[in-house]
Amino acid sequence: MLKYLPLLLLTLLLSACSDEPAAVSNEENPLVTIQIPKYLNKKLNITTGNAPTVKGVALGRMLFYDTQLSADNTVSCASCHKQENAFNEPRATSIGIRGQVVPRASMSLTNKVWESRYMWDGRHTNLEALVNDPITNPIEMGSDWASVISKLKADARYAGKFKAAFGANAEVTQENVSKALAQFIYTLQSTTSKYDRYLNGEEQLSPAEKRGFLLFTTHPDPNRGVRGGNCSDCHTIGHLGGDNFEFLGFKNNGSVPSFTGNFDKGLEQFTRNPADRAKFKVPSLRNVALTAPYFHNGSAATLEAVLDHYNSEDLFNRPLVDTTITHGINIPGGTSLGLTRQEKADIIEFLKTLTDTSFITNKAHSNPF
Ligand code: HEC
Ligand code: HEC
Repeated sequence: MLKYLPLLLLTLLLSACSDEPAAVSNEENPLVTIQIPKYLNKKLNITTGNAPTVKGVALGRMLFYDTQLSADNTVSCASCHKQENAFNEPRATSIGIRGQVVPRASMSLTNKVWESRYMWDGRHTNLEALVNDPITNPIEMGSDWASVISKLKADARYAGKFKAAFGANAEVTQENVSKALAQFIYTLQSTTSKYDRYLNGEEQLSPAEKRGFLLFTTHPDPNRGVRGGNCSDCHTIGHLGGDNFEFLGFKNNGSVPSFTGNFDKGLEQFTRNPADRAKFKVPSLRNVALTAPYFHNGSAATLEAVLDHYNSEDLFNRPLVDTTITHGINIPGGTSLGLTRQEKADIIEFLKTLTDTSFITNKAHSNPF
């Protein structure tokens, strides 16, 4: 044992001298614990070395609501990710600085720790790296790191906050701003909806919600008289999106009517594989009643419009639409999903059970300024 001692000391010495700010958690700055319900993945997608701490999250929360992250001090992350909309926004497509129109709809920031790929086209796997996109994108926040850093350094409200979060040697840097923002997002958990209480056996669903849940989770088989809405083939139980770490969760649900003119290529934009054309992230449906309009381009205005989309006669003819959709029929030989008006309404009743009022009113996530 003793012969390893010099090596051990050397390692300790090297880690103490390293420029890399270690995840700082101590008595004054404890780690934040994330409660994991039994029906959700035990594995959380938190970047090594950036486990959320109380002070890191508090700093991230300030940065999230700070318009100084944009070039002209008019736009913050929260401009497009509003708490009352489960950190999404009620617009078809986002508006960045100087009123510029962003080509895509914003996304909810609910439960990102249970996902592994981000953005409609999946181009990010790491929230710390992702935050560079909105900050430097000329039509979103249009800023650059040098000016973000100098504004934050000059702002007395941030004095000492970076050191408190990341250690005595920490400065205001791109790395630390990104880490703090990611830590805040790691803590945005929505696990207290009626649906959660149902999964925990604490509350029953109403008859309509229960019928909707059954349809949502059933793959139809008209030859055996089994009716289904076919939703959970893509929107998996629990977090209700496609991403459960095993199945990457990018699908073409027919949201692009034709591949002519100006259309969004989705996942293909990132993989360069034409087979991925118009595949988009299967978003989690948690809090979906609060996040209209829907789809990457905001083309479905309401939940009724979404259900009409999945039920439409035209959907099966759309280019490269997923076979899960074209194999989902309720009438033998049918050319559409074929849900009744009542069944569509029941599915919507179920989707409303995903609203988590305590998440959108949680003061720990609100504007600290
Ligand atoms: C101008 C509006 C706007 C602003 C400002 C903005 N976002 Fe977004 N956000 C979007 C849009 C639009 C998307 C989808 C982008 C895409 O798919 O290319 C998105 C996607 C995301 C995602 C991916 C979510 C997922 O489920 O994959 C995260 C995380 C995110 N934004 C965090 C942030 C943070 C942090 C900030 C502030 C630094 C920020 N956003 C500022 C509009 C905005
Ligand atoms: C083939 C996989 C697939 C199936 C089956 C499917 N979805 Fe989707 N769903 C998606 C994809 C992909 C998106 C995102 C599409 C886009 O952004 O253009 C989406 C988006 C949505 C949205 C909008 C969410 C948002 O934040 O914009 C809702 C609501 C929705 N689906 C509900 C359902 C319901 C209800 C069913 C069953 C009737 C269903 N989906 C079946 C893949 C699927």
